[in-house]
Amino acid sequence: MKAVIINKFGDLGGSTIKTGLDIPRPGKNEVLIKVRAAGVNRPDILQRQGLYKVPNGASPIMGLEVAGEIVETGESVIEKNLGESVCALVPGGGYAEYVVTNENHCLPVPKGLSIEEAAGLCECLFTVWINMMKLGQLKEKETFLVHGGSSGIGMFAIQLAKQLGATVLTTVKNKEKSDFCYSLGADKVVQYSTEDFHNVFKSKTEGQAVDLILDMIGGDYFEKNIDLLNVEGRLVSIAFLKGSSVKLDLGQLMMKRIHLTGSTLRPRSVEFKSQIAGELRETVWPLLDSEKVRIHIDSVFPLEKFKDAHIRMENGNHLGKIILSLD
Ligand SMILES: NC(=O)c1ccc[n+]([C@@H]2O[C@H](COP(=O)([O-])OP(=O)(O)OC[C@H]3O[C@@H](n4cnc5c(N)ncnc54)[C@H](OP(=O)(O)O)[C@@H]3O)[C@@H](O)[C@H]2O)c1
Repeated sequence: MKAVIINKFGDLGGSTIKTGLDIPRPGKNEVLIKVRAAGVNRPDILQRQGLYKVPNGASPIMGLEVAGEIVETGESVIEKNLGESVCALVPGGGYAEYVVTNENHCLPVPKGLSIEEAAGLCECLFTVWINMMKLGQLKEKETFLVHGGSSGIGMFAIQLAKQLGATVLTTVKNKEKSDFCYSLGADKVVQYSTEDFHNVFKSKTEGQAVDLILDMIGGDYFEKNIDLLNVEGRLVSIAFLKGSSVKLDLGQLMMKRIHLTGSTLRPRSVEFKSQIAGELRETVWPLLDSEKVRIHIDSVFPLEKFKDAHIRMENGNHLGKIILSLD
């Protein structure tokens, strides 16, 4: 089969398309998917650069989400059928013609979605569900801040939080991204290149502070985030684009009884991911079927042009998801 192989960690020159690779075999509870499209996620770039360790047993090939057809099932698979079209969270190996994953990590392609759209759902929706709903415990009428509102993560976080009845604040680089976030339902968007989000949200919420922050920035955003949080506020970290070392005022932590946590999806157990898949199927998939939650595809590149897809993400001008097509 054909796949993108990392020969040398670092820039794109170290990665290449290779053919003639062995097709992976599904284990007992796994399915083999013929990939028609794969989502590009920022963790893929970190992996290519050598900054994201592949968990034990996972494919070293990049790619954490796909859509395609099941072409082989493991001996204990009962829920999935040959020929079924699915979108799936995969533990790695998505930038390839074939990939294996646990049968429970496959979800139906939502009504009316193209295969490219379906390929961009899983990595971000699993991450948002775990961090915003389970760890972050977002509730109706709370105020929620997600940084990077035009990212794959931000796009889904804004829409799901609005569905829940929260007030949604976000930050982006420019006007195009700001307009995009308002179109998704955000209540207030700060363009961080011209405004300080801390000052704007401090005055905007007029003393009614933020209840939950989903943060992918870290660095100097951390202290500002802490200052914006309400009593019993929660800060959930999923990345640290501006650095992982931060300064914490323990006084604020204690006085406001702030909850600090975070997580990474890829190394979580098969059982945990299966549980999340079940929750998404019950709660979020009906919202996708009824178009109450939408996916916006920024661009689609053929697998052979994976370098252009990575360059587009690294340049940071995309809105929503970037997809690789194998059709
Ligand atoms: N923990 C997990 O399990 C997990 C899983 C998946 C993804 N992630 C992380 O989640 C983040 C989003 O992933 P993605 O795949 O959706 O990538 P992405 O689309 O490239 O998102 C990165 C976002 O960061 C924003 N950003 C950068 N600097 C910023 C700043 N100073 N202030 C506000 N926003 C800023 C960018 O928007 P602007 O152009 O507006 O700056 C961009 O939208 C990544 O950092 C990724 O590593 C974590």
